[in-house]
Amino acid sequence: MALHEAAVTELRAEFPALQQTAGGRPLIFLDGPGGTQVHGSVIEAMGRYLAEANSNFHGVFLYSRRTDETVQAAHDALADLLNASRPEEIIFGPNMTSLTFNLSRAIGRTLSPGDEIVVTRLDHDANIAPWLALQERGIIVRHADFDPSDCTLDMSSLEAAITPRTRLVALGYASNAVGTINNVARAVELAHAVGAWVYVDGVHYAPHGPIDVQALGCDFLVCSVYKFFGPHLGALYGRYELLDSLPAYRVRPAGDAPPYKFETGTQSFEAMAGATAAVNYLASVGQRYGRELSPEFPGFEGRRLDLKVGLATIRAYERQLCQRLMAGLKEIHGLRIYGIIDPDRSSQRVPTVSCTLGETQLGLTPQQIARRLDQDNIFVWDGNFYALAVTERLGLEDRGGLLRIGLVHYNTIKEVDILLGHLADMPNIVER
Ligand SMILES: Cc1ncc(COP(=O)(O)O)c(C=O)c1O
Repeated sequence: MALHEAAVTELRAEFPALQQTAGGRPLIFLDGPGGTQVHGSVIEAMGRYLAEANSNFHGVFLYSRRTDETVQAAHDALADLLNASRPEEIIFGPNMTSLTFNLSRAIGRTLSPGDEIVVTRLDHDANIAPWLALQERGIIVRHADFDPSDCTLDMSSLEAAITPRTRLVALGYASNAVGTINNVARAVELAHAVGAWVYVDGVHYAPHGPIDVQALGCDFLVCSVYKFFGPHLGALYGRYELLDSLPAYRVRPAGDAPPYKFETGTQSFEAMAGATAAVNYLASVGQRYGRELSPEFPGFEGRRLDLKVGLATIRAYERQLCQRLMAGLKEIHGLRIYGIIDPDRSSQRVPTVSCTLGETQLGLTPQQIARRLDQDNIFVWDGNFYALAVTERLGLEDRGGLLRIGLVHYNTIKEVDILLGHLADMPNIVER
């Protein structure tokens, strides 16, 4: 049983936000790349933690012990989601950006002037700026380019940027601006060939497919739970030996063992409770709708298998949705899609589709379109989404950037069709 219309209807019923209306009309959430709606079990788990376990951790009394259990469960859950070797390889923090600045500072302490770091122009600034910050320590940052014609990472540019002095390669798993999935395994090969570490921004990929840090062979991978149906919380995977050896900025009583040496201060335990629930929700999608995909993941069992299967099921459904969206967008006069448009290459992208619509002839900026769609309760993002290097490279930064349509598994064909109808009508509305 795959994710089909009836299954998606069932799942949608479990998301309180998807039941809301405004002005008596439903809401169409195509803003997932900026943050997805939250599953009901997540809201429930966070409320339960606050009522039944709220305390600080590492105390001897009941609520503190429950908090310890909450913290452990969240590390276990994220380790399962990412297929980490052990839960101590997971570090929580407020969000991906803060975690990355935290890690870049720690890594920076191990580098020498003249050492090099490679970043890509296809990345969100949260995987560029923390590395640029190390320039003040004499680190050289090199930029790998992407091909503006289809917005895919230029692997020869990446290869050329990597030198014997490269200590770290930072790249995204999937672009939050144009949806391209990068060949992370190849980047790992290139980086490891010169002894460099690889820091993967998995934020945008996480809601769209299974992640396996061991199969990728990456050294670090970071994601944000609020992008996959959970609360605002960041999570970072790091190879245990690296986390163990890196010098963390920490308070002395926190100890020097991972993960706590990097989890500075009091964390959002309620968000951790929510993170566990979000991971369990994704696993439940596998249990309920993905059983026939199990043979594709030999060697996995329990929740790790359910997660693989759940996210593979989600991926298959999202591909159909994306095909429908792309086919419809291609028919709209004056609309330009940035990124991979060939349906035969659908495995190289996630269903995040960015475009501009006749902005030169009609003066329609992405923001004007987003505002117009909002009048019909259709939520989309406009601008650069902090993927500043992408809009700069595409020459769109001074022109309002992009209009971004982000699909996730709770979206439907019907919603896609409603959006397409509005977009097709938009030039007429503006001309009138
Ligand atoms: C690809 C990507 N990386 C990083 C981030 C930053 O994540 P956070 O908000 O958790 O700092 C985002 C947020 O939009 C993103 O889409």
